[in-house]
Amino acid sequence: LRLFAGSSNPRLAADISRQLGVELGKIKLSRFKNGEIYVHYEESIRNCDVFLLQSFSHPINEMFVELLVMIDAAKRASARTINIIVPYYGYARQERKAAPREPISAKMVADVLTTAGASRVITIDLHAPAIQGFFNIPVDHLTAMDLITNYLRSKQLEQPVIVSPDAGRAKIAEKLAGRLGAGFAMMVKQRPAHNEAVITHVVGDVEGRTPIIIEDIIDTGTTIVQVVESLKKLGAKDTIVCATHGVFSGEALSRLDHGHIKELVVTDSIALREPPMKGMTILSAAP
Ligand code: R5P
Repeated sequence: LRLFAGSSNPRLAADISRQLGVELGKIKLSRFKNGEIYVHYEESIRNCDVFLLQSFSHPINEMFVELLVMIDAAKRASARTINIIVPYYGYARQERKAAPREPISAKMVADVLTTAGASRVITIDLHAPAIQGFFNIPVDHLTAMDLITNYLRSKQLEQPVIVSPDAGRAKIAEKLAGRLGAGFAMMVKQRPAHNEAVITHVVGDVEGRTPIIIEDIIDTGTTIVQVVESLKKLGAKDTIVCATHGVFSGEALSRLDHGHIKELVVTDSIALREPPMKGMTILSAAP
C-alpha cells in the first residue's frame, strides 16, 4: 500500500499516514511556465495498491486536473490499483439538469476520473449520495456525521434543535436529532441565482432553543447567514453551525463572523487557506 498527497490537502494526507502507520510516498508535483502540471512518483509503485489523496479545492479545477495527471502517471507506472481519496468531491451540486441545456457535471467528472484509470473512489458526504451510481467502479461513501454527533454530544447543549437548511438535508438532520434527543426543524429555501439563497418558510419549533444547523457544504456562507437570521427572528438562541466541507469562497469567513453564530464546526476535508477564526472548530476527518 502506498499513500500519496496531491497539493490540495497535504496535512490531511499526513494525518492519515500517521493513523495508518504508512509513510507518505514521495512524489514531485510541479508546473511548467504555462501552467501545465507535471507529476513524478519518486519511488517504484509497480504492483502496488496506490492511494492518492486530493480534495477538489482550491482552486478546484487545478486540483482536479492535478489528480488526473497523478492517476495517469500511476497507471503508466504499473500500479496494481489506483484508489482515489477525494474528501471533498466538487461539481457535486451539478448532479442533474435543473433546466434545459445544462450539463450534469458530477457525472462528467466521474467519467473522466474513471477513464483516466481510477479503480476505486473514497469520499465523504457527497452533496447527493446518488452520485455513487455515476461510477462503474467501487465507491466508499463515508460520512462525517459520527464525528459531528460525537462532538455535539460532548457539549451537552440545552434544548438543542437540529435545523436542516433545506429539504435535501432533512433526512440526515432528522436522524441526527434522533441520535441527540434534540428537536428538528427545516427551512424551505429558494435559489433565485447561483450563490444566492432565500428562506421562505421554517417548519418546526425553534423559539428559545439552541439551533444546530447541519450542512454538507458551506461555500459563500450565504445560505447559513440567511438561515441564522430567520432563526433569530423566530426567537431562537444563537446558532451552532456544522458542515462537513468548508469551501469558504470569497468573503465567506467574514460573512460567517456573525453575531448570532456562536460556533462554526467543519471537518478538514478541505484545507483552510487562512488561520481559523474565533469560534471555529475543525474536526479531523483522518480517522
Ligand atoms: C446546496 O444545496 C448545499 O447543500 C449548500 O446549502 C450550499 O452549497 C451552500 O452554499 P452557500 O454557502 O454558497 O450558500
